[in-house]
Amino acid sequence: MSQNHDWMQRDLQVLWHPCTQMKDHEQLPLIPIRRGEGVWLEDFDGKRYLDAVSSWWVNVFGHANPYINARIKAQVDQLEHVMLAGFSHQPVIELSERLVAITPPGLDRVFFADNGSSSIEVALKMSFHYWRNCGRSEKQRFVTLTNSYHGETMAAMSVGDVALFTDTYKPLLLDTFKVPSPDCYHRAPGVSWEEHSRLMFAHMEQTLAEHHGQVAAVIVEPLIQGAGGMRMYHPVYLTLLREACDRYGVHLIVDEIAVGFGRTGTMFACEQAGITPDFMVLSKALTGGYLPMAALLTTDTVYQAFYDDYSTLRAFLHSHTYTGNPLACAAALATLDIFEQNNVIEANRALSARMGQACAHLADHPHVAEVRQTGMALAIEMVENKASKTPYAWQERRGLAVYQHALQRGALLRPLGNVVYLLPPYVITPEEIDFLAEVATEGIDLATRTSLSVPMGTGLYPGHRDPG
Ligand SMILES: Cc1ncc(COP(=O)(O)O)c(C=O)c1O
Repeated sequence: MSQNHDWMQRDLQVLWHPCTQMKDHEQLPLIPIRRGEGVWLEDFDGKRYLDAVSSWWVNVFGHANPYINARIKAQVDQLEHVMLAGFSHQPVIELSERLVAITPPGLDRVFFADNGSSSIEVALKMSFHYWRNCGRSEKQRFVTLTNSYHGETMAAMSVGDVALFTDTYKPLLLDTFKVPSPDCYHRAPGVSWEEHSRLMFAHMEQTLAEHHGQVAAVIVEPLIQGAGGMRMYHPVYLTLLREACDRYGVHLIVDEIAVGFGRTGTMFACEQAGITPDFMVLSKALTGGYLPMAALLTTDTVYQAFYDDYSTLRAFLHSHTYTGNPLACAAALATLDIFEQNNVIEANRALSARMGQACAHLADHPHVAEVRQTGMALAIEMVENKASKTPYAWQERRGLAVYQHALQRGALLRPLGNVVYLLPPYVITPEEIDFLAEVATEGIDLATRTSLSVPMGTGLYPGHRDPG
């Protein structure tokens, strides 16, 4: 009997997995992972999988990275945790200093949280509270882009717009202003990314012109709308947005949780637009993919609006128990060391070019509407009809067929609906990129071969295996 099978059975008795219809696992095997090394994950039966999605976009320097491991091990013997209210410690101070140094100028204060969604809550609360402290309590609303994603907690869902995640909870969510996304997938033929992004800014301008008196902040995912299908837009949109937020007296919150730390080709996406947001939110790759942690960076102007005698009750009394955990800080410090010492952003240029070359042929595939890329993120949009860009119905779960094929071939590709994407750790080799492109091509060929709806569990998918 396989060890995978044993662990899977035990798992399915007690666990409830994230973002999963658990019934799928009656057909779809769950993969218990025993160890990781570099870009590879290995299951209990010894099969290896190339982690093409960086384990939900967190891993940058490989699994079980010896340098990060050593730094965490040293920290664990020194101090595993101390509360951050009234107390402090060396790793959190050093990490804050380094984050202030590498983020856009003017972001001088760091507030920690322990995951991406909760740091989005922090940004929204802090912006709202700032205006209140400034005597502008009518500024209570948030502006967001359609197709955006900022996490799963209530306020984070409120500023998101991926129906699959938010529709059920609509009655519980905040009312926001939703502005059409600059997503360049929808640009007219012959129109450049820059032109399209500029054109789409008119909607934002109009919303701000009409409602700025009630608006606390605009929140965006810069350059790539990740969970919304790796949809991309031009940096000019961010430049225009910064300028408009200044003009209308509205905060700009930039959610770099998914794209920060080199994903877009620069350390932070904001750099490509030359802007400093009022709030920048970081998580995921912050700790190299090791430990949950998030950091919100903001300006001295925001900080000063809260700085007063206790009795004025202007303080930001938000807290998460594990705020600034020293082990996570040690992982983050090690991650920043590697970025600096290995000149990673520069080195990634060659990898990102290789990703583009390896997948370029897919643009001619009869069921691929677009191959798009920003830095170290490349996405391939499968469609039923290429000319009209008609998507496959979500019920057909074409992406799942790609996922299953890739598993069989030894790759972890986890499409977002009809969008297959590569977002690998930066320690991937050119040959491994070619392998991923080959697997993705085969998977897309298989998944788009039939026009029939192939529901989950019929055993018709290539790569399907019974859990038993
Ligand atoms: C852009 C963005 N914001 C926020 C989040 C939420 O982060 P977390 O899953 O750590 O709560 C995610 C997660 O994928 C994300 O991609």
